[in-house]
Amino acid sequence: MDGTLTHPDSARRLTRWRADTPGSSRLVHLNNAGAALVPRVVRDAVSAHLKLEEDLGGYEAAESQAGAIQASYGAVAAVLRAEPRNIAMLQNSTLAFAQALSAFDLGPGDLVLTSRADYASNQIMYLSLARRRGVEVIRAPDAPEGGVDPEAVRKMIARRRPALVALTWVPTNSGLVQPVEAVGEICRAADVPYLVDACQAVGQIPIDVGRVHCDFLAATARKFLRGPRGIGFLFVSDRMLERAAHPLLIDMHGATWTQADEFVLTPDARRFEFWEFPHALVLGLGAAARYAAEVGLEVARDRARELAGYARERLATLPGTRVLDRGPELCAIATAAIEGWDAVEVKLALRARGINTSSPEREDAVIDMDEKHATSALRISPHYYNTKEEIDVAVQTLKEVLSGTSGRSGRDTPT
Ligand SMILES: Cc1ncc(COP(=O)(O)O)c(C=O)c1O
Repeated sequence: MDGTLTHPDSARRLTRWRADTPGSSRLVHLNNAGAALVPRVVRDAVSAHLKLEEDLGGYEAAESQAGAIQASYGAVAAVLRAEPRNIAMLQNSTLAFAQALSAFDLGPGDLVLTSRADYASNQIMYLSLARRRGVEVIRAPDAPEGGVDPEAVRKMIARRRPALVALTWVPTNSGLVQPVEAVGEICRAADVPYLVDACQAVGQIPIDVGRVHCDFLAATARKFLRGPRGIGFLFVSDRMLERAAHPLLIDMHGATWTQADEFVLTPDARRFEFWEFPHALVLGLGAAARYAAEVGLEVARDRARELAGYARERLATLPGTRVLDRGPELCAIATAAIEGWDAVEVKLALRARGINTSSPEREDAVIDMDEKHATSALRISPHYYNTKEEIDVAVQTLKEVLSGTSGRSGRDTPT
């Protein structure tokens, strides 16, 4: 069925994964870095709860599912090798990251040390802290082979202690995997707080927060974890909980108003949440986390990476197409600049032909894209449920679109 499958049981497992993923029979979905196709169990979990809200009322439905909601914390914690008390459910990765950042009373003279490849929204938040609070933002240099240089981070920390080190594990616009564990060890040795954006990592890279040594880790459900849109989560270390870290703008779920001028923090990571809570989506996220564990995160990593590597090889054979991914370790995101084309047009032409990809632009990663002399890129992000044949179809169709021999023009497709 698929040349990349070597495990004797693999063909059977692939058949099962695809049967669990109804969309895979209708589409070539290579946009798992955008939002994956959700497996049926996720759709079922979300719709079953909406049905309960229809039948019982929203508050009553939530109370009736208290055990299942608690189990979602357990399932997410298991994916990170953490405990349920360390998990906060938040509506997306950006909000989770912002909640964590707001736990630090950063001010003039404080240093945030980050990387050149950190996610655009995170970079904007650092710059906003610089503009509003006088915080200094420094980006550690990259190693010659690509990716942040942990030795440079070590030296910079030794020279001047940052208030926070923040690092995006996998950037949005390339297959680079940053050395988050090496940087985490350095932060731990220097007792510097460490915030990790694992949005593109969770679901395609096995995560052990103990090995990452992070104080906070933000992620979203909809990407490689295959959960629903509109929900994400934040890991908060025991160290931070014990230090009474909390978001600046905390609500009556994160704390209890005990006296006119007093509040008491909620003991666990839920102090980073808000009172209003998307129960259906959290149940969907729990189902996605259980499904990911059942598939196996190592299995998912190996197969998705192999498919992305194959996509890079095939893309490199097309005239005018330049593969952009570089770094000592690459993951399930393959990107290429296409000469004479804005990648959004290519993406739409492929979508009109039943192939989903995406098209990061310069503003999604200005430093990296400028360095690569690219204004946009076609992003192909396979997951374990995709096949080599789907990559072949995508690359062949791309070839036809670029040479103008494909039936429908990409330039007049709907947005
Ligand atoms: C690396 C990275 N971090 C954070 C985000 C933001 O995630 P969300 O849209 O769930 O806030 C993205 C989204 O693409 C991302 O790629």
